[in-house]
Amino acid sequence: MTVTSPTPDLFVHQSVLLDAVVEALDVRPGGRWLDGTLGGGGHSQAILEASGPDGVLVGIDRDPAALAAASARLARFGERFVAVHGRFGDVLDLAGPGSPVWQGPYDGMLLDIGVSSPQLDHADRGFSFRNDGPLDMRMDPTRGETAAQLLDRLDLDELTRILRTYGEEPRAHRIARAILDGRPWTRTVPLAECVARASGYRDSRTHPATRTFQALRIVVNDELGELDRALAAADGLIAPGGRLVIISFHSLEDRACKHAFRQMAGVDADKDAYGNPLTPPAWRLVGRRGVSGKQADAHNPRARSARLRTIEKLPLP
Ligand SMILES: C[S@@+](CC[C@H](N)C(=O)[O-])C[C@H]1O[C@@H](n2cnc3c(N)ncnc32)[C@H](O)[C@@H]1O
Repeated sequence: MTVTSPTPDLFVHQSVLLDAVVEALDVRPGGRWLDGTLGGGGHSQAILEASGPDGVLVGIDRDPAALAAASARLARFGERFVAVHGRFGDVLDLAGPGSPVWQGPYDGMLLDIGVSSPQLDHADRGFSFRNDGPLDMRMDPTRGETAAQLLDRLDLDELTRILRTYGEEPRAHRIARAILDGRPWTRTVPLAECVARASGYRDSRTHPATRTFQALRIVVNDELGELDRALAAADGLIAPGGRLVIISFHSLEDRACKHAFRQMAGVDADKDAYGNPLTPPAWRLVGRRGVSGKQADAHNPRARSARLRTIEKLPLP
């Protein structure tokens, strides 16, 4: 599909763990690859280059601006690259059997989850607590509820739970009360100032509203639900011997990913008397601890909190 954006040139995003992604996916010439988080197209470009001259890549993103920027960047690959607008939670419908882009199972699928630098930095997207903008936070501004609308309908218990669960915010209750007392909220910086006052955090290295904004963003975009749905879809998309690689940027996502991978690989499954799983697993973990962005991509500040995990689908017995 063709997507246009007024500002594709302003879409600057530094990809994390580029070499590690190509290695983890075991990219080689030919093959079919799926990037569920196309973003600025940095990882996709590396995959297309390493799979040349004939590897093909389907790139999905829910953000039309990202899709437009990546499509411009990857245009030189011609028909080897296909862009699809949508959520990776819907990946089976968007890129699976029966979809217009399906050409057979994929040799590897990448999810580099979270937000892109332009989403965070462009105040008009409403993610930033430093640069004032409309309180939006939708990665796909064409659909769904904004953060302002979310805050309008939540009660104290719901907001407290959200800040505690998705922001791991120890002062969730008092922050939630101050937010509800100050409604309605329409702009990001006034909300961030309210959170800073209510939290009472002083001298902290991170902005006092960091955890609150993370929690709201996760809920507005149903980020953990999306991850669950993509994990459930992987088996119907990836070829035996193919790999699923996930990069996450905070502990909640990494925990969800680690847990799901262990289940898929049967690590915690019931074992027989010889220590063999009762049901043979269909996947195997590639490395137990994953790759730390801090170590493997030390010069890239975006990679500081990144962790890459890989799982491989076993060949049919
Ligand atoms: C960290 S950026 C990806 C950067 C990309 N790997 C690169 O090298 O430029 C994450 C991207 O994933 C997209 N995204 C996040 N969650 C998504 C979802 N559930 N479905 C589709 N795209 C999603 C965001 O819109 C954003 O563009």
